Amino acid sequence: MRTPIIAGNWKLHMNPKQTTEFVAAVKDKLPEASKVEALICAPAVDLESLAQAAKGSELRVGAENAYFEDEGAFTGETSPKVLKEMGMNYCIIGHSERRGYFHETDEDINKKAKALFANDITPIICCGESLETREANKQEDWVVSQIKAALAGLSADQVSNLVIAYEPIWAIGTGKTASSDQAEEMCKTIRDTVKDLYNEETAENVRIQYGGSVNPGNVKELMAKPDIDGGLVGGASLKPDSFLELVNYQD
Ligand code: G3H
Repeated sequence: MRTPIIAGNWKLHMNPKQTTEFVAAVKDKLPEASKVEALICAPAVDLESLAQAAKGSELRVGAENAYFEDEGAFTGETSPKVLKEMGMNYCIIGHSERRGYFHETDEDINKKAKALFANDITPIICCGESLETREANKQEDWVVSQIKAALAGLSADQVSNLVIAYEPIWAIGTGKTASSDQAEEMCKTIRDTVKDLYNEETAENVRIQYGGSVNPGNVKELMAKPDIDGGLVGGASLKPDSFLELVNYQD
């Protein structure tokens, strides 16, 4: 049985004060983490406030990016080792905005996954195709190739424990959600890929999220699909009420 995981990705929104206020507003209304994991991934400048405010609650905390070195002359980067010291449970890597605007490669993402595991932080590895790729009906090849590259050299045990987020770029922030059937189809393809690369048990264990205009109105339908284990949510995770509706979708 996979525990569902609903994660907010705040992107470049919120400051430390807003972070503290947000957590205060949600922390007593969250589901038990053993039933549904509720996670906020915040900008690096907010992580100390996030960790402090979430202490002792069911809220899981995470970063939106990390570098693949723990320290050194890498101006502007974020150390996975320090994220661990700050109490981060998860870290998003390979978001399409990082790949697109900041030119992150599949190889970078693979190195980041390894660096996070070395620091006991669970990676949330993002993948997803552009509109152009979908219109050319090449989305499966594209996503399978991203997954193969991201997982290269990871053990079955590591893959069993990580999270993959399928986010079609054309559905991000556009209000245009993939249909639940389109989302399920690709999440199943990802699970089948993990089965081919590893084994059935690993494929059954890995959690796969869908992301792209998830909101309180569509979360139930998406979560009812057998291969969708969670959501990676941008815009609808920024307000406490909406985040609470998402994470309490089972009520
Ligand atoms: O990481 C989250 C995704 O980019 C989705 O963003 O929910 O605003 O479409 P969105």
